[in-house]
Amino acid sequence: MSSEDLFKRVISHAKEYGYIFQSSEIYDGLSAVYDYGQNGVLLKNNLKDLWWKSMVQFNDNIVGLDSAILMHPKVWEASGHVEAFNDPLIDNKDSKKRYRADVLIEDYIDKLHSKVQKEVDKSEKKFGKDFEKQKFLQTNKRVIGYLGLINETKKNFSKALKNDDLVLLKNIILELKIVCPISGTKNWTDVKQFNLMFETKLGASSEEAKDLYLRPETAQGIFINFLNVQKTSRLKIPFGIAQIGKAFRNEIVARQFIFRMREFEQMEMQYFIKPGTQKEWYHSWKEMRMKWHHNLGLGEENYKFHDHEKLAHYAESACDIEFKFPFGFKELEGIHSRTDFDLNNHQKKSFRKLKYFDSQTNESYIPYVIETSIGLDRLFLAILSNSLKYEELDGGKTRTVLKIPSIVSPIKVAVLPLLKKDGLPELARNIYDKIKMIYATNYDEKDAVGRRYRRQDALGTPYCITVDHQSLKDNTFTLRNRDSMVQERLSFDQIIDKLKKEMSLNNFLIT
Ligand code: GAP
Repeated sequence: MSSEDLFKRVISHAKEYGYIFQSSEIYDGLSAVYDYGQNGVLLKNNLKDLWWKSMVQFNDNIVGLDSAILMHPKVWEASGHVEAFNDPLIDNKDSKKRYRADVLIEDYIDKLHSKVQKEVDKSEKKFGKDFEKQKFLQTNKRVIGYLGLINETKKNFSKALKNDDLVLLKNIILELKIVCPISGTKNWTDVKQFNLMFETKLGASSEEAKDLYLRPETAQGIFINFLNVQKTSRLKIPFGIAQIGKAFRNEIVARQFIFRMREFEQMEMQYFIKPGTQKEWYHSWKEMRMKWHHNLGLGEENYKFHDHEKLAHYAESACDIEFKFPFGFKELEGIHSRTDFDLNNHQKKSFRKLKYFDSQTNESYIPYVIETSIGLDRLFLAILSNSLKYEELDGGKTRTVLKIPSIVSPIKVAVLPLLKKDGLPELARNIYDKIKMIYATNYDEKDAVGRRYRRQDALGTPYCITVDHQSLKDNTFTLRNRDSMVQERLSFDQIIDKLKKEMSLNNFLIT
């Protein structure tokens, strides 16, 4: 299956199984805004819980916060977002469609890479075992042309981004003869900067109303509360403040499902450190976060680091942890060394001291900050797209299965009476009532048991417990594993022991 087809299937599966719905669907939807359905909300809550425990519960020196979405407008002046939180936009004069200039160029580079890959695949098929990829890349004229163009474009592109050179960005688009996908023309406007913050008003009467912004990142709520938390918790540097919450960005290009949304959720942690120690802490947080992702079990080969060439206005060094989504390796989480940029600017703007007093050395200083920032919706998409599998079974049958890591799967157990008679539903209900006090559990008695297994597979439920006639005699049940489809006969206590072992947080924290 092509990755494009897989992505389409992920989107339709997410809808069919109550994970994600288009927002305001009955009014034809709202672009790049999504609602999470009955199973989506459970998966999302489980992801939040896992992240929160890993950050706050397991680290003695990291505490939580839930700051307001609305903040004083000066926050965004101090943070630099009013001035610099921009994306370069370009309009096509014929279609009147708006694009991100940098994304048009990135997409063009991706297309060139696909062309190279196509040539490689073609020749590999033709020459089989004798095919030498390196030699082919160095000698095939067409491929050399594509690779040369990629290098040249990347060089100019990086220069344009580094210098905020909007004229150069437009020239690259013109030189590459990039056309608007709607009108098919190269009739472009100049490139302009577009601020991504949503504006809103505070106050009832229009004269007194104050212009506010919906927060584009949760981090600023942490910065402005840094001393409140430090003083009331008596934490000593290094220490962290973690927060999960909504963020809003008026994205120019809103596409790729929940990858780029206008309303989304972030899980951010600011780690306050002594100036001069930022290099070590930046590297150790990079390693710790990558390990956290690997422990989820989606395959280590699906992650890589990508160092930023164009740094955000607040960053001294920055990198992304990229994940292999169906549309290629893209940013999942950012790790940023933010220096004292934010605290320093808030101190200046607010005229309040935001210094930390180190009682051991008798020094006062503004701490430096290492930030880890992951998009909850992107983590959700990584899990969903990686987990959806189509498997061939014995006898020419197939099954659709969501192999979501059991620790975060929305429903952990389904209880199924084999038949809807002979006292089996009553016993099954009894089991269900007990298990639901421990795990999110489904009860299902409709259709043949095989169909019910398929339904739970497609939903991502890692375990099914079937109640049959033998259960009435000896109180044993079959426990079926979603991934292996192996069934074993166990007592109720044995089942609970097994579930506790298999879904323990200790498995997730393997070092
Ligand atoms: N506080 C730093 C910050 O906000 P960012 O790289 O702009 O940094 C952090 O965003 C993370 O938030 C990204 O790695 C991504 O996972 C997520 N994110 C950013 N914009 C998003 C959007 N429009 N839709 C969904 N997730 C987004």
